Amino acid sequence: MSDKIKKIAVLTSGGDAPGMNAGIRAVVRTALNNGISVVGVLRGYNGLIEADFKNMDKNSVSNIVNVGGTILYTARSMDFMESSGREIAYKNCIENNIDAIVVLGGDGSFRGANEFSKLGMNVIGIPATIDLDIPCTDYTIGFDTAINTAMEGVDRIRDTSTSHARCSIIEVMGRHAGYIALYTGISTGAEEILIPEKKEFAAVSSIVTRLKIAMKKGKKHYIIINAEGIGKSFEMAKEIEMATGIETRATVLGYLQRGGSPSCRDRVLASMMGVHAVQSLIDGKKNRLIVFQDGMVKDIDINDGLKMTKGLSETYIDTIFGVESK
Ligand code: F6P
Repeated sequence: MSDKIKKIAVLTSGGDAPGMNAGIRAVVRTALNNGISVVGVLRGYNGLIEADFKNMDKNSVSNIVNVGGTILYTARSMDFMESSGREIAYKNCIENNIDAIVVLGGDGSFRGANEFSKLGMNVIGIPATIDLDIPCTDYTIGFDTAINTAMEGVDRIRDTSTSHARCSIIEVMGRHAGYIALYTGISTGAEEILIPEKKEFAAVSSIVTRLKIAMKKGKKHYIIINAEGIGKSFEMAKEIEMATGIETRATVLGYLQRGGSPSCRDRVLASMMGVHAVQSLIDGKKNRLIVFQDGMVKDIDINDGLKMTKGLSETYIDTIFGVESK
């Protein structure tokens, strides 16, 4: 049997991220331009188990490069975590002559893909999550749009916060990773940034002390960016108001951070990664992750990629304390 790739499947998995559509478009168009046919799998790995496939032609990806969400829909599939689910999915792939699957998603989706590869399917992962929490890559599709959306939201809240001389807590996404909070906080000049990697920053008693000093010095607002991984923003607001007498309000930005038209950076990187994914299949590569490292799009072995770990760079912390007014 020839190893030449004739047909691939593309799917999106996990939380959606702006730019996924640009990635799908790049995969579909690059494959078709090289004589490879493509099916889109609907609703992530669930669609692979239910053989929910859709033939993709050139026009099926028209007018989506600028659209948020994912035209293929997405899911966090519980069934695919079971070997029985993956076996059905594999059978569906074989029956539909699928030679490889391209998965746009986060770390969990890549782990699923890696398990799937053990059945014999060739898998390629493209990092797409607003959280930027995949250790083997410096960039994940959707992050840039999400942080710009969050930044704009905080700028607006800051206007009203200053007008009322209030303290405002703004909760941003990121259950396990503080990157969205860090970028949002640094770009808006927030007084506090609370992240799951540095839980010690989130002690209300020390926030209260710092807030009192800042207000005494004449600050007209006090912005606290709180990552979802710390959470409890409404309780925190009550505690701060009780302890300081300063009016404190909480806003949870929530899912609006996941939607919206992707930024230029997300569209371009998603396109580059999509093209690279198909090119690596054409080159005969197997089980790769497409990554952005040292300013370049590359592919690495999926096992090597999943073994990598990444601590939070102290540069971020130095930046926060460096620009803080003394
Ligand atoms: O996609 C990443 C993310 O938005 C995280 O920031 C957040 O913790 C999680 O997804 C929310 O997931 P769900 O859509 O399942 O509520």
